[in-house]
Amino acid sequence: MRKALTAVLGAGALLLAMLVAVALPASAAAGTLGEAAAATGRVFGAAAAQGHMGESAYASTLDREFNQLTPENEMKWDTTEPSRNSFNFSAADQLVSHAQAHSMKIRGHTLVWHSQLPGWVSGISSRDDLLSAMRNHISKEAGHFAGKIAYWDVVNEAFQDGSGARRDSVFQRVIGDGYIEEAFRAARAADPNAKLCYNDYNIDGQNAKSNAVYAMVQDFKARGVPIDCVGLQAHLTLGNVPSDMQANMQRFAALGVDVHITELDIRMNTPSDSSKLATQANDYKKVVSACLAVSRCTVITVWGITDKYSWVPDTFPGEGAALLFDDNYNKKPAYDAALEALGGEPGDPGDPGDPGDPGDPGTVSCAYTRTAQWSTGFNGQVTVTAGSSAISSWTAVMTMGSGQQIAALWNGSPTTSGNVVTVKPVNWNARLAPGASASFGFTVNASSGNAADPSVTCGGS
Ligand code: XIL
Repeated sequence: MRKALTAVLGAGALLLAMLVAVALPASAAAGTLGEAAAATGRVFGAAAAQGHMGESAYASTLDREFNQLTPENEMKWDTTEPSRNSFNFSAADQLVSHAQAHSMKIRGHTLVWHSQLPGWVSGISSRDDLLSAMRNHISKEAGHFAGKIAYWDVVNEAFQDGSGARRDSVFQRVIGDGYIEEAFRAARAADPNAKLCYNDYNIDGQNAKSNAVYAMVQDFKARGVPIDCVGLQAHLTLGNVPSDMQANMQRFAALGVDVHITELDIRMNTPSDSSKLATQANDYKKVVSACLAVSRCTVITVWGITDKYSWVPDTFPGEGAALLFDDNYNKKPAYDAALEALGGEPGDPGDPGDPGDPGDPGTVSCAYTRTAQWSTGFNGQVTVTAGSSAISSWTAVMTMGSGQQIAALWNGSPTTSGNVVTVKPVNWNARLAPGASASFGFTVNASSGNAADPSVTCGGS
């Protein structure tokens, strides 16, 4: 009797151990930018435009890779308040809903900026009038999105390039130096939970402009003006990542603010070639590594998803290819470099960009079959087959239907993250000679209405 009970308990413990193994969060290296950043306590975002969301590759790349979204133009003053006190948030609302549905943090961009500013604002010449228009804009816009915005770029680009002087905007001319702190106070009142940032370009390294921003943040902190973060836009050119970027971020962090890389892109003279793309990959790696070295650098956002829709060619004629995905949504070497710098695993199955990477799809193929089924579940089997070269290990990535759970898995070692199950070999079926195969099997619990087969991709090394 006692022996039988022990056997039952033993089997139960084994089953429990298998279930626990399946339910544990992924310990395998992450396969997307967002996952890899999340594993370091950060987010990896992209600017996105509502006008492109209907393009399925655009939306699916955004949803797969990024866990933070910045509306590229939809929250700017000329869009949200084109005439005085008449607000239109419809495009921004759609992006916000999309981001929420995909658990992405949202960066509000931007409340006060000299550019993309409607004429009625630039035409105001009385201090009281402009202050009241600015406060109203902030209170209505930040109020509209209150509770949904993780970070607001409250004021954008208020300093001049090449000097520490204030930019000559209508706000500066008509209200004076105090307009920036007035904007931050109004934003805090409208959305007390959003982190409030000052955002600018060419403040990525230490220079006269970033020194001026530094002095402003120091002053705000000393006087209790609400500011939580500084955004370094990081619109960079090939081979020119400032060598003191990390030191610059560190000095801002030491003032007690978070540091965000908000609009990262690294442009080159077009057309691109493999040597420029390799330099760019190294540049992205430098930026990501600098951020990771600073604990208060918590956000990295690229200014667009695909080179196809980047703002660069329109703004800097003859330059482009600045982002992580090419015109056809293929991962560029810079993508792999960024992912690797984040501690993720580049060259995951489906990456056509990098022959020779672990996981290059040329090295293995895989086949899925359903081997049994019943009213509340099914068994599946995946067979991984080496191509013309031997492999020392393989990975299968299974995306499960919603509500499905893997109840057991044998001859493979699974880790689960959301609905994605990454299966690695057990020690005895890792090495495969050319053309040889290994299989693993599993049981899926699925309600009868949701018995879809998983989609499976494989890679080998
Ligand atoms: C750019 C957008 O990407 C373009 O679509 C638009 O035509 C102009 O603005 N710094 C910023 C961003 O803070 O708002 C700018 O975005 C790029 C430079």
